[in-house]
Amino acid sequence: MRDVTLLSIFEHRITQKYVKRAGMSHAIAVAYHAFNLSKEYGVDPDLATKAAFLHDIGHYTWYRNGKWDYELYKKNDIHAIKGAERAHKLLIRLGEHPEKAKKIALAILLHTDSYLPQGELTLEPLQKVVAKADEMDEEPKGNHHYRTIDDEKARTLIGKLDKKIEQELKQHNEIANC
Ligand SMILES: [Fe+2]
Repeated sequence: MRDVTLLSIFEHRITQKYVKRAGMSHAIAVAYHAFNLSKEYGVDPDLATKAAFLHDIGHYTWYRNGKWDYELYKKNDIHAIKGAERAHKLLIRLGEHPEKAKKIALAILLHTDSYLPQGELTLEPLQKVVAKADEMDEEPKGNHHYRTIDDEKARTLIGKLDKKIEQELKQHNEIANC
């Protein structure tokens, strides 16, 4: 039913390196929010949770003189662009269907507009879900990026979410086949 699970994404070294850089606890919380919102918005929970889990995979560490520099980040950040590309490459490598990988990458690209020129964007429901899920976990001063979680707990939560998604998709298919 699903070509790629969240757990297989979690275990990959690229995820371990880059999602951890932006905060594994935040990524998992956003994936759970996206799962809950996906029902409300009628979007595929598999796509919503993958995009949410990977939405910050493109972050770079903007340091000056050994300290995090918010001004430097604000001026130069392209984490949504970098993240869309990095997540797409990872998903394809893991065996994700190209159509799904593209939808996920686009939702990552548009999860924030902080790097875009001013203007109105009309987001699709999947893109809205990921942006909203991210906002729901945001803390002042970007503190959500610094919350920590140990590997075992993270793995357990990801495994539980995989089960919830599979249940949801199964239920959905049963209703569709009635
Ligand atoms: Fe985020």
